[in-house]
Amino acid sequence: MDGNGRWAKKRHLPRAVGHQRGVEAVRTLTRAARQMGVEVLTLYAFSSENWKRSEDEVSDLMGLLKRFIRSDLDEFVANNVRLRIIGDTSAFSPEIVALIDDALARTAANDGSTLVIALNYGSQQEIARAAAAAAEQGAITPETISAHLDTAALPPLDLLIRTSGEVRLSNFLLWQAAYAEMWFTEVLWPDFTPAHLQDALDTFAQRERRFGGR
Ligand code: IPE
Ligand code: MG
Repeated sequence: MDGNGRWAKKRHLPRAVGHQRGVEAVRTLTRAARQMGVEVLTLYAFSSENWKRSEDEVSDLMGLLKRFIRSDLDEFVANNVRLRIIGDTSAFSPEIVALIDDALARTAANDGSTLVIALNYGSQQEIARAAAAAAEQGAITPETISAHLDTAALPPLDLLIRTSGEVRLSNFLLWQAAYAEMWFTEVLWPDFTPAHLQDALDTFAQRERRFGGR
């Protein structure tokens, strides 16, 4: 989810307003994805590199995260959505860690769809952690590394979407993206609508996936 800052800048608004509109897009798109039958939706909400932003911006993002969990958890519970987190949440405040733990516990038995939020997530760090854990148990192979990734319990990644015109992965799901289809759009995240998601899914459906075969 990229482009909140540029969305705000274009309108001469503070970056914080862009992030607020970004959260509204999250709300709309998580609902739409559920209705479109997307079984697992993973959102890159905060990267392990986002700590480099100003203290003010980091604190705005943390505030939005808290408010989002508080306001939307009931809807996830009511709609049989299981919440999962990837990334290292130990760096967050005790208040946020408690909110996350509560949200995970309250949705743990849900089996409708899965919403994964990447928080303090960095794919290279994740792969290094997984390789170390695999080594501790014996062999380092693609299978044992996969089994120790934060995404171990999730199905393979099918489609990766990046908004705002950037054409790079920025440390997101590097391992998991090995055979994922990629869809890039110029649309800034706050402007991303269910119609854009449908467009991405339609494109995905037309792609021929060979996984290295022919
Ligand atoms: C959202 O967009 C990213 C986060 C949720 C941290 P940006 O804040 O990166 O927006 P741009 O790239 O400055 O437009
Ligand atoms: Mg950005």
